Amino acid sequence: MSNPASPPAVGVLAGRPPLTFPPGFLWGAATAAYQIEGAAAEGGRTPSIWDTFSHTPGRVVAGHTGDVACDHYHRLDEDVALMAELGLKSYRFSVSWPRVQPGGAGPANPEGLDFYRRLVDALLAHGIEPWLTLYHWDLPQPLEDAGGWPARDTAGRFADYTRLVADALGDRVRYWTTLNEPWCSAFLGYGSGAHAPGRSDAADAVRAGHHLMLGHGLAVQALRAARPDAEVGVTVNLYPVTPASGEPADVDAARRIDGLANRFFLDPLLRGSYPADLMADLAGVTDFGHVREGDLATISTPLDLVGVNYYSRHVVAAPVEGVAPETYWRAPSCWPGSEDVRFVTRGVPVTDMDWEIDAPGLVETLRRVHEEYTDLPLYVTENGSAFVDAVVDGAVDDVDRLAYFDAHLRAAHEAIAAGVPLHGYFAWSLMDNFEWAWGYTKRFGMIYVDYDSQTRIPKSSARWYAEVIRRNGLAAE
Ligand code: FCB
Repeated sequence: MSNPASPPAVGVLAGRPPLTFPPGFLWGAATAAYQIEGAAAEGGRTPSIWDTFSHTPGRVVAGHTGDVACDHYHRLDEDVALMAELGLKSYRFSVSWPRVQPGGAGPANPEGLDFYRRLVDALLAHGIEPWLTLYHWDLPQPLEDAGGWPARDTAGRFADYTRLVADALGDRVRYWTTLNEPWCSAFLGYGSGAHAPGRSDAADAVRAGHHLMLGHGLAVQALRAARPDAEVGVTVNLYPVTPASGEPADVDAARRIDGLANRFFLDPLLRGSYPADLMADLAGVTDFGHVREGDLATISTPLDLVGVNYYSRHVVAAPVEGVAPETYWRAPSCWPGSEDVRFVTRGVPVTDMDWEIDAPGLVETLRRVHEEYTDLPLYVTENGSAFVDAVVDGAVDDVDRLAYFDAHLRAAHEAIAAGVPLHGYFAWSLMDNFEWAWGYTKRFGMIYVDYDSQTRIPKSSARWYAEVIRRNGLAAE
């Protein structure tokens, strides 16, 4: 950035008061391996389910794949230098399982581990705390061929892979996230099939959710054994679920979707049990025979922190006879047993994903986790927005994205004032990248990526965020 200290000339934030965050607040930005690395067939890496899926015609918009992505694998130094210019205190990245353990079995691939060693060392050299996510959706394809997450064995494989990474990087990485958003892996991957591996079977989706959490618990234990000093957590994507009206049927629809979206994960992870009402709702889908003695104790192995990804709210209504469920952006088949619930759009401003912008929902979400589930430190491990960007005279003035960040940081501050032990915030994303089923058509980055030339252009939001970090808060506008 030419002058990171000068805030952008925008009027969108006029009149908003300054806010200061607690000392030591961890300001970061996040990415994920398949979304940025590219080099899909280099350095010994083998295919993951996302390689297979993106190369299957009709799965990803415009046939986009992560083959090249942001070419971060080859541009690691340049990208870490940009992070340093932003003043990031922490960078949340994910390790590609098939890069460090090709095929998902056997010994580590030294070349794969070297890439992450170089990344971590570059971060540390710039005073940036590395935050490592072990699983951001790139299951090695052979493990999917053997059954994928609906198969119990995958959980054990994940623990084996965790051991390899912990042994190699545990001496220099303090913060660890096991899974990123198990809801997406289970219910988009095996329910609606909108994400890799693209299967659609309600019972498999529920089994996948359980085995993901079992893998998480085993991975926490593996990390504890290898690195007693590690700070270990999990990242869940949570939504406030609001009934469209006070009618009992709408309230019940909200209870059901809240069960599937939030409590399916929060209860086992933080309370060691599945909610009874959720199990009753799913009675037509599964008898939960896949849950074995001791699983829930493993799943609820104590953590050091909880990561929350927050993007939007769900507003839902009861099924109406003869009226098809609105699909909003989610295929109904990712809500097993509740496929007929309608997702209602309120007509409030949306992002380029059509996700409603709802900053108060972040306050609600963080307060709920703290007040109903845990006293552990919380981190917003992802929050951000896609908007259509235009490069004008070599610059990108993304005022909408900047306003989104501002509103959500104010919400985060409000949560802290209400007593939530929120210790950090990671913007999604550091740079534009492969947005899963949307390919490169959706831009979430603070740094613009020209995919033809691989040029990076920090947007206005990046300059603004650099100033937020420098001040440890929001300036008066
Ligand atoms: C989250 C994912 C992340 C990114 C954002 C927009 O669900 O964790 O990889 O795609 O959404």
